[in-house]
Amino acid sequence: MTDLKDPFKEARQTGPIQMTKFNGEEIPLVLRLQDLRKTLKEWQSFSSDHPFKVVPHTEEKMRTIRQIPIEMDPPDHTEYRALVQPFFKRPNDPAYIKDMEQMIQSMVRMALSADQVEAVHEFALPLQCRALTRLLNVPETEADIWKEWGLHALTEGGGLEEYTAEQFTKAEKNPGGDFFSMLNRVEFRGRKLTFEEKQGIANVTFAGGKDTVINVVSSIIVYFAENGEALKILGESEKNINTACEEFVRYVSPLTAIARTCPHGAQVAGQDIPVGSRVGLCWPSANRDESVFDQADELVLDRTPNPHVGFGFGIHNCLGAPQARLIIRSLLKAVSEKVKAIELISAVPRMEEEESYIRQVGYNHALVKFN
Ligand code: HEM
Repeated sequence: MTDLKDPFKEARQTGPIQMTKFNGEEIPLVLRLQDLRKTLKEWQSFSSDHPFKVVPHTEEKMRTIRQIPIEMDPPDHTEYRALVQPFFKRPNDPAYIKDMEQMIQSMVRMALSADQVEAVHEFALPLQCRALTRLLNVPETEADIWKEWGLHALTEGGGLEEYTAEQFTKAEKNPGGDFFSMLNRVEFRGRKLTFEEKQGIANVTFAGGKDTVINVVSSIIVYFAENGEALKILGESEKNINTACEEFVRYVSPLTAIARTCPHGAQVAGQDIPVGSRVGLCWPSANRDESVFDQADELVLDRTPNPHVGFGFGIHNCLGAPQARLIIRSLLKAVSEKVKAIELISAVPRMEEEESYIRQVGYNHALVKFN
């Protein structure tokens, strides 16, 4: 973990883009922070309105519905996003924060009382699922179903679309204050959302916040196992927790790339992008841009300022960021207050392998002992 290698370093130092193969298609990845921000601001030239293609390797075979609002441009994107935004802001509510902190503290206490814990499947996965029940305002028992889907809602799961379809039907019969009832209720341009629209919103909500959160949580646990003194530093002030949270997101950057399509052709960092072809926004590379971040390859817990783009940038910036930040901060707080040391027994990194790069995004397995 202390040495999470940056596979884009050499390319970034040589030039602003790297041609990268995804399923046989060559996509230029934007590597530097300023270029990435500029690209994201020009959403008319770099469009998200390309269903199944915002993930570079494409998700056509993994789902049947267009994800909303991520696979859209304004004005549609703006209006759909505004419909769901109040729900995604719930993690800013003091009562919500308290409840999340207590849940995560109880998980840390349980880990302390166990002989050993497998930090991915026995800690990060249930933590992410239990946290999501709070965001969606559904009974905590639903987490037991979601855990069975594994670490990635689309690649490992199966059953996500069937599950969400059932929930909309149930909520229709018995409406409440949950996410599914809210989507049944809200109106888009004077009409109710269609089934496909509701499914598209639910799909990205489940998929976007699963492996990303799990990978950051397991990486944090392994980091503390390897850097015991960091626990003490964290405990000293709440401010340390917030800066450390941002630094973990920058350093781990669990999402490697998201694509945009150029409907009219465009230029990225001086390179022509032909009409209809795609570019990739490489978040982890931008987050290691040495012209912006001092000691870019080091995890600096008190890094300020920290203009990372781990949660994206611009109009599509992560809707789940308040939830992810609350989870990470609550974990850092609970661990720094209650745990003296974490012992690493064994770990198997989770590697993402594409034709042109291989990078660690988290862990498949990490056996630890909390002391
Ligand atoms: C550490 C955890 C997370 C990371 C690193 C992350 C990363 C990102 C990034 C980079 C984007 C921008 C995509 C783009 O520009 O096209 C994004 C968007 C999004 N994320 Fe997250 N995410 C995380 C957690 C979550 C969670 C917990 C949820 C929901 C429960 C979520 C839901 C979404 C949604 C719905 C969007 C689309 C927003 C839009 O198109 O306006 N994410 N995320």
